[in-house]
Amino acid sequence: MRFEGKVAVVTGAGSGIGRATALRLASEGALVVVNDLRAQAAEETVRLIGGGEAVAGDVLEPGFVDRLLDGTVERHGRLDVLHNNVGFGGRASFTEVDDATWARGIDGNLGATFRGIRAALRIMGPRGGGVVVNTASMAGVAKVAGVTPYYGTAKAAVIHLTKEAAVEGGPSGVRVNAVVPGSVSTPAFASYLGEAGLARYAAQLPLPRLADPADIAAAVAFLASDDAAAITGVALPVDSGLAALLAQPDA
Ligand SMILES: NC(=O)c1ccc[n+]([C@@H]2O[C@H](COP(=O)([O-])OP(=O)(O)OC[C@H]3O[C@@H](n4cnc5c(N)ncnc54)[C@H](O)[C@@H]3O)[C@@H](O)[C@H]2O)c1
Repeated sequence: MRFEGKVAVVTGAGSGIGRATALRLASEGALVVVNDLRAQAAEETVRLIGGGEAVAGDVLEPGFVDRLLDGTVERHGRLDVLHNNVGFGGRASFTEVDDATWARGIDGNLGATFRGIRAALRIMGPRGGGVVVNTASMAGVAKVAGVTPYYGTAKAAVIHLTKEAAVEGGPSGVRVNAVVPGSVSTPAFASYLGEAGLARYAAQLPLPRLADPADIAAAVAFLASDDAAAITGVALPVDSGLAALLAQPDA
């Protein structure tokens, strides 16, 4: 019960990694404010938890993230943990990405994370501290063939933004870290690769298993907990060893 009496906000918590994190933090005692663009998905997460609060809304909308965090403090009295989790990509080459798609992709993956950190530092700093965990991606460490160029670029910047915020937040007791998932066995990934593709993919990893959303949630919970009291500014891969393996052309 590492989060007994604490209040956490998770963005994009109506599915996948965000939902798993909301469930994990709640199972360890947190009151979780569950944000998602899709109101029904957020409400379903709250139903699965059996408590907390659903707040529907778009982290890309100007002012929304500030309202989300200020409202959390107004209604629940405190803010201890923010998981900046919203992110999206897809498959596209450079020539298929127009200016509006590029701007939206960078804002959705990086700008929303920046606004979350900024609001968290403003709120948590004067209240004695807190923790932010950002969701980056292995696509921000090296190019993933076929994935739209804004995704990895923004996720690389999320890893750096984590260090910027850790240094600025440290003196006021705010820790800021990132999780760096490799490929996660979400329904979207499964339907993209198919069952055989998924098995082939997993077999090539140093640990021959794909991470699932609960594996990522466990790492988020660790970084958000006092067990990580001396850890800030890190980007923790949760990737079955993918980051340890140099991809080489087949000879
Ligand atoms: N799934 C993977 O393999 C993988 C790997 C590395 C990193 N990630 C990252 O993990 C995070 C979560 O991914 P996931 O696979 O769980 O995704 P998901 O699609 O299962 O869930 C994302 C949720 O975010 C919500 N959302 C989307 N845009 C939003 C917005 N503007 N405002 C509020 N909510 C919004 C969606 O409605 C959805 O419920 C993302 O940042 C993603 O880039 C995922």
